[in-house]
Amino acid sequence: MPDHHAARLALGRPYEVRTLAGFAVGAGDPVAAKAAFTDASVAVSTEVAVGGMHAHGETPSLSLLDVGAPYAPAMPNSEPVRRVAIVMAMEAEAAPLRRAVGAQDLASPGWASALPVRLAGAPAGPSWPELVLAVNGTDPITGIPCIGTTAAALTTHVVLNLPEPPDLVLTVGTCGGWTRAGASIGTTYLAWPHFSCHDRRIDLPGFQAFADGDLPAADLRTHAEALGCELGIVTTGDSLDESPTDHDRIVDNGGVAKEMEAAAVAWVCHLHGVPVGGIKTVTDLVDSAVPTPDQFSANLAAASAALESTTLGLLSRLADAE
Ligand code: ADE
Repeated sequence: MPDHHAARLALGRPYEVRTLAGFAVGAGDPVAAKAAFTDASVAVSTEVAVGGMHAHGETPSLSLLDVGAPYAPAMPNSEPVRRVAIVMAMEAEAAPLRRAVGAQDLASPGWASALPVRLAGAPAGPSWPELVLAVNGTDPITGIPCIGTTAAALTTHVVLNLPEPPDLVLTVGTCGGWTRAGASIGTTYLAWPHFSCHDRRIDLPGFQAFADGDLPAADLRTHAEALGCELGIVTTGDSLDESPTDHDRIVDNGGVAKEMEAAAVAWVCHLHGVPVGGIKTVTDLVDSAVPTPDQFSANLAAASAALESTTLGLLSRLADAE
């Protein structure tokens, strides 16, 4: 398993990331260090290359040779994708896609029957592989859609325990973006190179790496341009607003798409060894003077339509690759 804690230790200090063949994959600032580290771990986990990381200065030498077993490989673009699970938080986000593929409700497994998760399935179509569409559902206590990481982890766990689990999970939904990162309302990101958490703070030795939750995204980069998507780090927290502490963490982790589920979906996928990609469309600009809830409500329908078309576009490209 990659030593993310050690990698974090290297941040902000002189460092260098090399493959064992001596090929330098990154050096310089903290954000680049994280990206390079993730690239190196992806390379190892896909067995494209064997990597090693050497941190200089105060940090110990690191090895990524153990990367693999519990962590999902990135998705080589040539790999056939026969079944995809799409995990979404709100029914309002999912409705256009649900309609477009004609997804029909599926019963949850008996052991999951008390959970709010809503499952639907669609057989492979002319331009998509077999689909499971999973939505977090409605909280039975408040009657509110279950957004956030707890429900997202439950939904993902249900999906990955279906009799025929998916080859790929996509965490699809709306996000906040930043004008400082070049976003506008409607900008759609494909998650790359990793997912991260920005609101988990555990100042105990070794625990912060777990709290950061940096996990690689499936390698869908080749599709970004055709889909009109930007690539970027998806950063997850359980609040719609951005606290000053969250702000500092997001600047540090290089996040460009702020949302509330992806890192939890990614964690469960990685426990199960299933690749996970992310599609996130901006409903609100975090660095705008307009309150986030107003932006979110005004742009939710258009963003959900954009999620439908981008997701269908990606599925079609994945189906074509077979
Ligand atoms: N989903 C859409 N916009 C968001 C934001 N600003 N923060 C978290 N999740 C979001």
